[in-house]
Amino acid sequence: MAHHPSVHTSVLPAEALALLGVRAGMRVVDGTLGGGGHARLLAHAVGPHGLVVAIDRDPAAIDRGARALAGLPVRFAQANYRDIPEVLDALSIDAVDAVLLDVGLSSDQLADRDRGFSFDADGPLDLRFDPTEGEPAWRIVNRMRPESLADIIFEFGEERHSRRIARKIAAVREKQPVHSAREFARLVASAIPRQHPPARIHPATRTFQALRIAVNEELKSLRIALERIPTRLVPGGRLAVISFHSLEDRLVKQAFRNAQVWECLTRSPVEAGPAELAANPRSRSARLRAARRTAAFSPG
Ligand SMILES: C[S@@+](CC[C@H](N)C(=O)[O-])C[C@H]1O[C@@H](n2cnc3c(N)ncnc32)[C@H](O)[C@@H]1O
Repeated sequence: MAHHPSVHTSVLPAEALALLGVRAGMRVVDGTLGGGGHARLLAHAVGPHGLVVAIDRDPAAIDRGARALAGLPVRFAQANYRDIPEVLDALSIDAVDAVLLDVGLSSDQLADRDRGFSFDADGPLDLRFDPTEGEPAWRIVNRMRPESLADIIFEFGEERHSRRIARKIAAVREKQPVHSAREFARLVASAIPRQHPPARIHPATRTFQALRIAVNEELKSLRIALERIPTRLVPGGRLAVISFHSLEDRLVKQAFRNAQVWECLTRSPVEAGPAELAANPRSRSARLRAARRTAAFSPG
């Protein structure tokens, strides 16, 4: 159970809300509840005659959100956002007016030392958003062929030292299987040549990102969601997606190019302004794109 209040600061809140065009009485989906900041704003915007369907893969986020947002017009579902149609079916809702996806990791997950997301935690290198589903990262790291590990680290982390890192993992795990996030972060750092001047980010950042994306099939979920969401939006209904790296942003940009389905509302992605950047460093890499479902698109 998640007993602590959320420590997550929502990114681009005003911009996302404006692009979604949410008004009183609307029914909307927040596909990534996280710390509940966006969901709270959406709930106030739709008011007592509207509804927010709040989804997250992480049971801890659902648990925390259900307590923090009690009394607001919000229904909760622990699910993958690629299954929005099934979640809506269960609530007997045909179509909604808007969907928000704010993809990736929350600060609450990062702060939980048992989940494997932070480099200095002794907990297992798990990296799953839903700890009850799929394989934890430590198991993948201990069993996968070094060539496949290198491919994952290169493709999803855009890490140019991927082969060196995979070779090092293979050598170390022969003696002692990898288990904690801290051990793994040290191992990765030791495989990378020292940089001068030192890099701004931890040397294991890209490798952790790559494994997290692989373990949670993040790009696959986003690809499927982008295809399925328009089938459950009313004509003129809107989708806004906040992404944090170029692989995700590219998928969103490509999907919104399909003029039969979408009228794009953001020619270039919306980014955080100076005040938000100063207050919330995590907003640095956030990119927000939004689009409106065309009337011509036929869900069938
Ligand atoms: C950046 S946080 C969202 C923060 C939230 N918008 C707020 O204002 O606090 C991303 C959340 O999305 C969840 N998530 C990531 N991929 C998901 C997926 N495919 N389906 C459902 N939830 C997902 C994560 O568990 C995490 O809680």
